[in-house]
Amino acid sequence: MSADSPLTPPLSPQAGRGSLQSPSPRAEGEREGPAKGEDEGRRPFVVAIDGPAASGKGTLARRIAEHFGLAHLDTGALYRATALLVLDENGDPANAVTAERAARRIDPRLLGDPRLRADAVASAASVVAAIPEVRRTLLGFQRDFAAHPPAPTRGTVLDGRDIGTVVCPGAAVKLFITASTETRAARRVKELRDRGAPAIYEYVLQDLNERDARDSGRRAAPLMAPHDALTIDTTTLDADVVFERAFALVARALEEKEWQQ
Ligand code: CDP
Repeated sequence: MSADSPLTPPLSPQAGRGSLQSPSPRAEGEREGPAKGEDEGRRPFVVAIDGPAASGKGTLARRIAEHFGLAHLDTGALYRATALLVLDENGDPANAVTAERAARRIDPRLLGDPRLRADAVASAASVVAAIPEVRRTLLGFQRDFAAHPPAPTRGTVLDGRDIGTVVCPGAAVKLFITASTETRAARRVKELRDRGAPAIYEYVLQDLNERDARDSGRRAAPLMAPHDALTIDTTTLDADVVFERAFALVARALEEKEWQQ
């Protein structure tokens, strides 16, 4: 599997219990697992990384996962895959019935499809992501992944928009990664051009602004910093400095967990 796969390592039969066909019965926003303090030692170790588009959260999530031997799930890929399935059948991403049906049809193999990275898919992803039925369907998969780290990993890193607030509110480490819109647009342009895709800064900036507004303004699990997260503004920081800050927090949390076991 490629280094930038949204789902590493590949789904084991154990992790496969997080079937997209079986959404969690828990209501959106409900706390998962035991309350803080109880049973800490036996809870799976989760690092929750949230932030707006192109803030650097994906790069950080991959590095943390690799360094600490944790499994990584890029939850944005689930929304992108839902959007791709809708667009493929010329459907309307804003239609709740169509979008929810697509969310149920996601096959984990689709999460590595390079077509997910297209701008049109990203925009449609933020439209399907505002539909509560879609979020509910994808919630079960994400929570199951977090609850059953595929062997031999000792925990998981999930990155997205609502990981620390809704998907894994009991995560051991919560990070909120942000940067100015201009910096994020410039990074996305570089990323697209590095991949050989044409990119015009003004269009990318406009797209990010529209997506940020949809992601922060929606009623269902809006993008926001969890109250107990460490916020890192990466506008003037390079990826190594961001990693060092996150590293210290994750290392300490892992040490505490191992001490409790
Ligand atoms: O890579 P980038 O940060 O541009 O986007 P992404 O993480 O792949 O997410 C694509 C879209 O999915 C976002 O604009 C959100 O609308 C949605 N999303 C979400 O609502 N909740 C998540 N946990 C992850 C993504």
